[in-house]
Amino acid sequence: MDKLQDVIELLKEYHQEHIIQLLETLEPNKKEELIQQLNKIDFHQMKELYENTKREIEIKENKIEEINYLDKAKLSKEQKEEFDKLGENAIRAGEYAVVTMAGGQGTRLGHSGPKGTFKLDVYGKGKYLFEILTENLKQANEKYDVIIPWYIMTSKENNQETCEFLEKHNYFGYNKEEVHIFTQGELPLLDTNGKLLINKEKKIKEASDGNGGTYYSLRASGNLADMKEKGIKWVFIGGVDNALLKMADVTLLGMAIQKKVQIASKSIVKANPHEKVGVFCKMNGHPKVIEYAELPEKMAEERNNQGELKYGESHIMCNLYTIDAIEKISKETLMYHCALKKNSYLDESGKEVIPEEPNSYKFESFIFDAFEFFDDIAILRGKREEDFAPVKNKEGVDSPRTAKELYEKYWNKQ
Ligand code: UTP
Repeated sequence: MDKLQDVIELLKEYHQEHIIQLLETLEPNKKEELIQQLNKIDFHQMKELYENTKREIEIKENKIEEINYLDKAKLSKEQKEEFDKLGENAIRAGEYAVVTMAGGQGTRLGHSGPKGTFKLDVYGKGKYLFEILTENLKQANEKYDVIIPWYIMTSKENNQETCEFLEKHNYFGYNKEEVHIFTQGELPLLDTNGKLLINKEKKIKEASDGNGGTYYSLRASGNLADMKEKGIKWVFIGGVDNALLKMADVTLLGMAIQKKVQIASKSIVKANPHEKVGVFCKMNGHPKVIEYAELPEKMAEERNNQGELKYGESHIMCNLYTIDAIEKISKETLMYHCALKKNSYLDESGKEVIPEEPNSYKFESFIFDAFEFFDDIAILRGKREEDFAPVKNKEGVDSPRTAKELYEKYWNKQ
């Protein structure tokens, strides 16, 4: 019983008395499971993360500079050919792997299932987001005569459903041997008073710890070692929810090779100063992305001598790394950001509450916070109409409707 008493003391210390009440109602084996889960939670870390939700984010503008980039549309013919050749050679040599981050909750879209299983209503019959990504990779395989190893990151919450879905659809024709699915880590959710949420299984409700978890999870799952064994030199990491994502862009890859950088990224120009995307800059001499919610209004609207937004290169989750860069980042600690999201939970009477408004903090590390560990990044500016059709919201901007329009318009032109 000491174990129980220890946990009760811990819960009291961190003002989580409602969990003590829950423990009292549980059968012995369920109680044991919950105790085990509670023992794995770092309560001190959770307390700090909650306290940080109350803090203003400070950005010291004087240390921030514009980022340099190359515009794909403005490259000279020779330059583009050089990049493309370098990129193509690396892919043909089997040095290129792709990672898809599919561990998000997709709360804004409101689709009941992993986001990749969402069917975009294109060309009448529709296509799942996973199907669209697979088609893109298969095209590259055909063009460069390889099978690009594909690593898909899921969350504990959606892993089983993702695996079943891909299996049921026979990996949309991708070589199954080259699809590697791994799961990312989790952190508890906290309500706006700092209390842990209880899920339907009468456990603490946890959620994936953000796409910044990709690096660590790649290593911890053994997939980084697998890549090394295969002779992979370059790793592309992209999101699951961009219907126009180009997962094997030889120009981007060739540019990174030619510039001898550790990291590279494709950007697009921000549609307007207040578009909800993160933007690139250099902070204290290191590449950085500032999230839209953290970008001061004055900076969002600032223009350079050419009349362009000074901080207008949007981060579109289209990132490229050397294998050494992934290894390095996977051993670093990334900071956590918090987002207020809608999460269902069991109330004190054991009834499920499905909130209509955001009710809880999710703590996430962001993929781009790792850029600061490097001195430089090579950025290639792409085009919105060719590279970016995000499926984020149920309706309005960045919704299935806008993604369908962009997708069909792009493919009608090809
Ligand atoms: P978003 O930050 O847009 O989150 O993810 P989301 O989960 O898709 O949607 P909301 O915010 O809940 O509405 C951008 C990319 O990062 C992945 C997502 O799957 C998506 O590809 N991601 C996000 C993860 O893989 N893990 C996470 O913990 C969070």
